[in-house]
Amino acid sequence: MQYDVKDLNLSDAGATRIEWAAKNMPVIRSIAQRFEKEKPLQGVRISACLHVTAETANLMLALKAGGAEAVLCASNPLSTQDDVAANLVREHQIPVHAVKGEDNESYYRHIASALDHRPQITMDDGADLVTAVIRERSDLIDDLAGSTEETTTGVIRLRSMEKEGIITFPVIAVNDSRTKHFFDNRYGTGQSTLDGILRATNSLFAGMVFVVCGYGWCGRGIANDARGLNAHVIVVEVDPIRALEAAMDGFTVMPIVRAAEVGDIFVTATGNKNVIRKEHFQKMKDNAILANAGHFNVELDLPGLDELTVNKRELRDFVVEHELPDGRRINVLAEGRLINLAAAEGHPAMVMDMSFANQALAAEYLHTNRGKLEPRIHVLPEEMDREIARLKLETMGVQIDDLTDEQRQYLAGWREGT
Ligand code: NAI
Repeated sequence: MQYDVKDLNLSDAGATRIEWAAKNMPVIRSIAQRFEKEKPLQGVRISACLHVTAETANLMLALKAGGAEAVLCASNPLSTQDDVAANLVREHQIPVHAVKGEDNESYYRHIASALDHRPQITMDDGADLVTAVIRERSDLIDDLAGSTEETTTGVIRLRSMEKEGIITFPVIAVNDSRTKHFFDNRYGTGQSTLDGILRATNSLFAGMVFVVCGYGWCGRGIANDARGLNAHVIVVEVDPIRALEAAMDGFTVMPIVRAAEVGDIFVTATGNKNVIRKEHFQKMKDNAILANAGHFNVELDLPGLDELTVNKRELRDFVVEHELPDGRRINVLAEGRLINLAAAEGHPAMVMDMSFANQALAAEYLHTNRGKLEPRIHVLPEEMDREIARLKLETMGVQIDDLTDEQRQYLAGWREGT
């Protein structure tokens, strides 16, 4: 078996971490149990490029239970949990190619190794596998039943490929399932982003001016959770509807150029580039803290900050202090990479349970419908989304009402009025 992990001796620590996550993943567990019996993915080669965490391990185990031959590489150089990677290899014979802190060259070498598996299904978090297939490994396309995509930025990149007509196989935008982005992006990113900032800095949020750039699914979660910890939250947006929503949710909304002057902590979650840049760094208070929760490390213009920096030192794990010519210091967390995965443990298992239920069902859907789906971006059928929500509610012990026949008819008709 080919693999590249940090140290197989970390496997035992990985085992308990995976077990701990599994406790809060009842939906993926029930899918794994069905997969175990039905083997819907028997012999299907899957290459997954996902954050190598305990939650992802539970997805990989579910795929394996379904009969798949799955391999895993990382979707970010800093997000790998080395003990989990070791355990997947040693205890479960699932090849993993990922080491926390790997350089760019190793990152892309690991993606190439995952593709050497000649996947029939690829799973992406940021579209790196699909990009590599299209750019360098088009020989794999004929064998592909399709691909799945986990995150907003990946879906944006795939839609751009679709527009250019270069998507020649079906892709499931897992991110666009409501049981994914309503919960994972909002509550998962919200809580784990704050967790990452707290673990890296041990800051007190109460009373701080906390600036959130982007009021999308992730930004809403981050802003709300920071408010819950008694920070003064400022939202920065470019979309008038999202900005209006933030204002009516009770946040202060202003342009970044003004927020730069007053913020203590800044977090980007836009999926865009150079959202905070030179002209903003120049206005920041001494000891401002900068972090990013968006997919790529391009939201903070760090090359621009380097140009302004006269002195740079690592003060704590994941904290690099930049000193500017006038003596002000700006602290950048986790090299501007996903703070929640770099400095904390990513989303809690309870929310990844739903995201990865979507991934597992998407793999089954692609395989079952092999050759029948159009070569474009699809969303999983509505009934699957509702089924995941139903299962999740059940495991949370939450009951809801059913429509009566009378109500169903009323909602379907137009004749009845006041
Ligand atoms: P979204 O599309 O719902 O929201 C992005 C928001 O940013 C939009 O409202 C947009 O108007 C705004 N925006 C764009 N450019 C901006 C600028 N220059 N200044 C201020 N606002 C700007 O996207 P979502 O789902 O919130 O995802 C955001 C990013 O987070 C993506 O890169 C996504 O892949 C990533 N993500 C990260 C996760 C994590 O674990 N850290 C989990 C899920 C998503």
